[in-house]
Amino acid sequence: MSLIADLSEQFGRAFVALGLEPADGGVAVSQRPELAQFQCNGALGAAKRAGRQPRELAAAVIAALDDTSRFADLSIAGPGFINITLSDDALATFVEGVHAGGGVGVDQAATPVKMIIDYGGPNVAKELHVGHLRPAVIGESLKRIFFALGNEVIGDVHLGDWGSPMGQLLAELEDRQPDLPYFDESLTGPYPTESPVTMADLNEMYPAASSKAKADDEFGERARRATAELQKGRPGYLALWNHFREVSIDAIKEVYDELGVTFDLWHGESTVAERLDPLIERLLDSGVARRSEGAVVVDVALPDDKGEIPPLLMAKSDGATLYTTWDVATIEDRVDELGVAAMIYVVDARQSLHFEQVFRAARKAGIVGDDVLLEHAGNGTVNGPDGKPLKTRDGGTPLLRGLIDDAVARAADRLAENDLASEYASEERTAIARLVGLSALKYGDLQNHRASDYIFDLDRFVSFEGRTGPYLLYSAVRMQSILRKAAEAGIKPGPIAPPVGEYDRNLMLALLQLPETVVRAAEHRAPNHVALYAYELAAEFSRFYEHCRILDEPDATRRAGWLGLVELCLRELSFLLDLLVLEVPERM
Ligand code: ARG
Repeated sequence: MSLIADLSEQFGRAFVALGLEPADGGVAVSQRPELAQFQCNGALGAAKRAGRQPRELAAAVIAALDDTSRFADLSIAGPGFINITLSDDALATFVEGVHAGGGVGVDQAATPVKMIIDYGGPNVAKELHVGHLRPAVIGESLKRIFFALGNEVIGDVHLGDWGSPMGQLLAELEDRQPDLPYFDESLTGPYPTESPVTMADLNEMYPAASSKAKADDEFGERARRATAELQKGRPGYLALWNHFREVSIDAIKEVYDELGVTFDLWHGESTVAERLDPLIERLLDSGVARRSEGAVVVDVALPDDKGEIPPLLMAKSDGATLYTTWDVATIEDRVDELGVAAMIYVVDARQSLHFEQVFRAARKAGIVGDDVLLEHAGNGTVNGPDGKPLKTRDGGTPLLRGLIDDAVARAADRLAENDLASEYASEERTAIARLVGLSALKYGDLQNHRASDYIFDLDRFVSFEGRTGPYLLYSAVRMQSILRKAAEAGIKPGPIAPPVGEYDRNLMLALLQLPETVVRAAEHRAPNHVALYAYELAAEFSRFYEHCRILDEPDATRRAGWLGLVELCLRELSFLLDLLVLEVPERM
């Protein structure tokens, strides 16, 4: 159990002994660290409920504590806060417990939740772009955070592979290469195993086809027909579409791999193709859906809605299904096939109405019960200096690949400027620059709250100073190097001993805040809590290291204890960086 949970339980018992609630005993890190290490504010609310005087109640709580031997100070402040300071012995004993336990002090969920995180959302035939950065890193981080807390977490990329762009591409390719066997309706296969198009072809064809569909009615109509026929399963179209899909997945995966983002499932909109007709029929039969001018809709507005929630479209008048239909059917699929109890969607916050409609429809249709959580954890956008979504110089959408390359190139410059890694072989230097550049990009993103927009400032992100990915990697590398140097000198880390001053004491206190931080990040679906805490921990370490000259310390027990502290600090920082999808080089 974490220290804060342990203290909360002890104070809870004291409140219970006074006939009050255990929850009143909640202990938190003190907001006034100069006065105390922790505080318990429960006496205020409890006194109000019980009609008692808060300061007097706070004193009664202190008197009712079952064992006060671990406290150096318990005092009442202001209107009835209880200020708590541990003895140095108790503090060190607790930290050493975590150290000796080999972990980081995180408790595993008593009842693990099987959940899915839907966080990729790339579309077939399009390369990943800047809009895919936030959902990718936030989703990956949340997946790791929930997993670290003992849950069963499945990541699904939910590929966009069933919509109108597919028909546009089919029509476009038919115009360009009408003789391909896929277009001959008298054939049903087998078709060539080799794709007739590369990712580069698709990249060029996609925008061309989409503007043609807008400008040219005849082409637009053909594209629509092709989409409908694909969705009905025309063999040649399906075979060709499979090539589009595979070629795209290869390219998309490469970039995700580079980012350290991996998915358990590469499902797509098309995964639920077989479910669509029966689902729509069922909804019509049960009266959940109704026909409206040939289309099928589900009314999802509720009496106390503040804004207007329009009906959800399940099928268009030509019978075609769409984005909303696939998401409703996907919920059904995830319940039936995976039996998940929670579905969290890390998707652009601008899609909030879509998810509101989809979730309401799924509930109205009885696809999920109240015991299944459906949540859109919307993400903000990456903006340029003008505060609008980031664009390239010529107004296009920057590709993720390009952002990664830029970040890595700048990281290489910064390493050189700081004279880091300069005497290593060029291969190692390149590998280090890659990790540093990626850390700049990912930490630059994750340090912002999930739902906020932020301004993309690569210069600031790649700096080795301040709240940045490179600073955190550098901190971890420094801890590694201290431990390595000590090992070379034959000095072994030992049990963490009581602190000798404020620097090692503050570091111990900081180390003990990890478990609550991870829980908070999960509860708010907000990795920035982990990101900011990792920075604070690294900064606290830096102050400690500056003042406590570990390897010069003559007292062997103290030196070994400090090394133990470095060991735990590195373990915790590595754990946090992994939650942030950052990888630490061996040296710099
Ligand atoms: N492909 C979609 C888009 O580009 C995002 C998919 C998000 N996930 C979902 N289940 N709808 O907007």
